[in-house]
Amino acid sequence: MATILEFLGGDHHACDELFASAEESVSQKNWGGARALFDRFHAAMLHHLAMEENVLFPAFEARTGSTGGATQVMRMEHEQMRELMQDMAHAMIKTDYEGYLGLSETLNMLMQQHNMKEENVLYPMTDQVLAGERDNLIRSMEAVKP
Ligand SMILES: [Fe+2]
Ligand SMILES: [Fe+2]
Repeated sequence: MATILEFLGGDHHACDELFASAEESVSQKNWGGARALFDRFHAAMLHHLAMEENVLFPAFEARTGSTGGATQVMRMEHEQMRELMQDMAHAMIKTDYEGYLGLSETLNMLMQQHNMKEENVLYPMTDQVLAGERDNLIRSMEAVKP
């Protein structure tokens, strides 16, 4: 089975591709296509954040006894991403070209920095400290409802 880094890192890339496709459609003012792609991106991201918050972070915190550190920062950044995506959904409904692209630039910066911290630090650490439970963790994450 895959490592946590491979499993969740791969999911980051899948989300990034949907994000880029939605942005591309908005920049062409293809609002019908953009809305469908944004909805898929939004759903994929909410699922990703839920896999981390409901399965990965609690397991990491329980194993390391740490609740105030890295995972707390990650949770706060997830909240910022959810708010930005909510605002992007509104901009999409209003077909607000400038508004959407401004928000998507902000989200992209936040998302890339966040994902880098997870892929360089948190996921490799989790692969280490939870090596024995890794397959079960991935199965539990796969079972999180989209
Ligand atoms: Fe995250
Ligand atoms: Fe992540």
